[in-house]
Amino acid sequence: MEYVTLNNGVKMPMEGFGVFQVPDPAQCEQAVLDAIASGYRLIDTAAAYMNEEAVGKAIAKSGVSREELFITTKLWVQDASYEGAKKAIQTSLDKLGLDYLDLYLIHQPMGDYIGAYRAMEEAYREGILRAVGVCNCYPHVLADICETVDIIPAVNQVELHPFFQQEDALALMKEYGVQPEAWGPFAEGNHGIFTHPVLTEIGEKYGKSPAQVVLRWNVQRGVVVIPKSVHKNRMEQNMDIWDFSLTEEDMKKISQMDLGHSEIVDHYAPAFVKMLHSMKIHN
Ligand SMILES: NC(=O)c1ccc[n+]([C@@H]2O[C@H](COP(=O)([O-])OP(=O)(O)OC[C@H]3O[C@@H](n4cnc5c(N)ncnc54)[C@H](OP(=O)(O)O)[C@@H]3O)[C@@H](O)[C@H]2O)c1
Repeated sequence: MEYVTLNNGVKMPMEGFGVFQVPDPAQCEQAVLDAIASGYRLIDTAAAYMNEEAVGKAIAKSGVSREELFITTKLWVQDASYEGAKKAIQTSLDKLGLDYLDLYLIHQPMGDYIGAYRAMEEAYREGILRAVGVCNCYPHVLADICETVDIIPAVNQVELHPFFQQEDALALMKEYGVQPEAWGPFAEGNHGIFTHPVLTEIGEKYGKSPAQVVLRWNVQRGVVVIPKSVHKNRMEQNMDIWDFSLTEEDMKKISQMDLGHSEIVDHYAPAFVKMLHSMKIHN
């Protein structure tokens, strides 16, 4: 496992474990326990995943000390305001059974997210959040946030995989000192990624699967990855990416797979924005 140092000096693992779409509490708790046993130290959840309690139970049972773990959760759109974020941070801490978070992210740049970010900056100064950041910020949104806030986001978690590579976004993040983190590093399984001929051919040279090639490619671009799986053998496979390197030629071949747009979400579509605003996670 390698670590990256964020713009505030906090060290973050380059690979973590995501728990999106694992709403069943028992399954989520077991998955996080298996992930920690497989060597993952970064766990990525969100208030909107409705599984913070299960993640918290697994953390408590894991036997790994709190300081060794890097726990991320996210503020949902419904709570995107100064007062909303103040409450939401405490609710997430209570559900996770923790007294601080390693990273707290704005899940979507929607609603009064600057107000929310101000509350996050306060919690950061109080030591409740070790790092604050954002998600799903395309370059123009990230630039606006960085030009507005006091504390530059430590992380921008965005969709990053071979079919949506976002090199322009990575360049801007580098300029502002914002660490890129890939959600959907497997494109959520789309485009036949796990049997893709280009990735298979590259992997065969190293005795690695397409999944491992894809994770290694992002890590070599300086991107933190948070693959999700509920299967322990896949968790172990996904973690086993630290003993090989892709060549420049391999990286170039993968760069040619870029479609230049997301086929999972469309943040430019009013219907998508409306749908996210309509998704309520509490009364
Ligand atoms: N900030 C955001 O807006 C946002 C959005 C989406 C996701 N995220 C975060 O990013 C994390 C990862 O993204 P994701 O969960 O959307 O998708 P993903 O990690 O790209 O893909 C997960 C899918 O890949 C399968 N899989 C995993 N490892 C595999 C392997 N080695 N071989 C074959 N199949 C494999 C999983 O199946 P099984 O589970 O059945 O093994 C699951 O169906 C999330 O869990 C979440 O923490 C954040």
